[in-house]
Amino acid sequence: MAKVKKKYICSQCGSISNRWQGQCDDCGEWNSIVEEAPVTIFAQKHDLSAGGRLVSLSGLDSDIAIPERMKIGMEELDRAIGGGLVAGSATLVAGDPGIGKSTLLLQACAALARQGKNCVYISGEEAVDQVRLRARRLGLADAPVQLASATSVRDILTTLRGGNIPDLLIIDSVQTMHSDLIEGAPGTVSQVRASSQELIRFAKENGCALLLVGHVTKDGNIAGPRVLEHMVDTVLSFEGERSHQYRIMRAVKNRFGGTDEIGVFAMQEGGLVEVANPSTLFLTDRDSAISGAAIFPALEGTRPVLVEIQALTVRLSSGATPRRSVVGWDSARLAMILAILEARCGLSFANVEVYLNVAGGYKISDTAADMAVAAALVSAFSERPLPVASIIFGELSLSGEVRPVSHSNIRLKEAAKLGFDAAWVPAKADAGKKMDMRYFATLGELTRHMLQ
Ligand SMILES: Nc1ncnc2c1ncn2[C@@H]1O[C@H](COP(=O)(O)OP(=O)(O)OP(=O)(O)O)[C@@H](O)[C@H]1O
Ligand SMILES: [Mg+2]
Ligand SMILES: [Zn+2]
Repeated sequence: MAKVKKKYICSQCGSISNRWQGQCDDCGEWNSIVEEAPVTIFAQKHDLSAGGRLVSLSGLDSDIAIPERMKIGMEELDRAIGGGLVAGSATLVAGDPGIGKSTLLLQACAALARQGKNCVYISGEEAVDQVRLRARRLGLADAPVQLASATSVRDILTTLRGGNIPDLLIIDSVQTMHSDLIEGAPGTVSQVRASSQELIRFAKENGCALLLVGHVTKDGNIAGPRVLEHMVDTVLSFEGERSHQYRIMRAVKNRFGGTDEIGVFAMQEGGLVEVANPSTLFLTDRDSAISGAAIFPALEGTRPVLVEIQALTVRLSSGATPRRSVVGWDSARLAMILAILEARCGLSFANVEVYLNVAGGYKISDTAADMAVAAALVSAFSERPLPVASIIFGELSLSGEVRPVSHSNIRLKEAAKLGFDAAWVPAKADAGKKMDMRYFATLGELTRHMLQ
């Protein structure tokens, strides 16, 4: 006797519940819960303590098969995935529509194919000719990639099992795949999971590296990458603003390596170009100092990236409520810094509109930028520029004290490398080698120094 039980699943995070609700309890998304395809439960086989095969148990210290890594040859990508693709692993590449996922993976596929690897690229979204056109535009048409347009997982696996097992299999995208083992349209949670499961099993059994493209989506009708996060070995997030050319590849999860490395690319006519020195992307080219700008050495994982923080202040004559507008930084953190400036340094922004912007579309979440934000605000307010070619960092406490930050030596080294010769830092920071260092214990010291 088989019993059928109804289940509901969130298409954003994949959490399962027994009843339908308007909002997901786990991720808070609205209208994301859908009915999952029925699951059959065999009632008479409920006792799992007998009838199985024996599993071999062994100690931690026995022979190890170190996973083989394939270097793609695109250094930024290899770095982000921890030194190359692991044979038999599954990697999800998630990103917003049009961010450049297909472009990047086609480039990676071609790079490996040119090294003599057997690389298969399956597109469920584009016709073969469309992919060929892209390949031609990117100058990759001569790479021996095996290309097909297909959406049936059965067709794809039948084809692959019948021929040469590929070293690399790219599926673009997982939301277009269809498994005939279960009901439902491509893109639904159950289809995305069932299709991925089959593809991942194929990859593990045959030692092939699998790259799955996953669209990031807010639409409850299509399952997002979070549904797959726990099934794959590695999750890479491909980020950036479409209006800006830089893209960051970040490992969100990695069973075979760290998640603190990023790869930086610039989207250009000829495809994604690796950016070995990201700081150059976010800095404005300028020889003279202007007020309201401060350079902050941010960290992406362990890589320093210098970014410019810009502030603009406008005095209001009327008693209207002044605006606070922030791009690329936390608005609550801005309110906090304005309050510290007022309470601890006697600088009131009560009748002043404040605009804060991080140049180049970059987003900072590091509290080490507090001092740079404060300095940009004071500089805009007083119309006194910070020294040309100087950097500034430090975390602020509510008392107005400047606290030390992590990796200050990495930040200083990067700045020195790029020709910055002065640094304003917390009192305990290490001295930069060739830099003119100025130490601050409190925000009051900084404002007094800037306003003197
Ligand atoms: N002819 C072209 N010349 C220059 N750049 C182009 C051209 N066609 C596309 N692009 C760039 O490539 C981007 C799309 O890249 P791609 O198709 O790889 O993205 P995707 O993430 O796979 O998108 P989708 O979500 O639609 O699959 C465009 O946003 C654009 O910047
Ligand atoms: Mg695409
Ligand atoms: Zn959810």
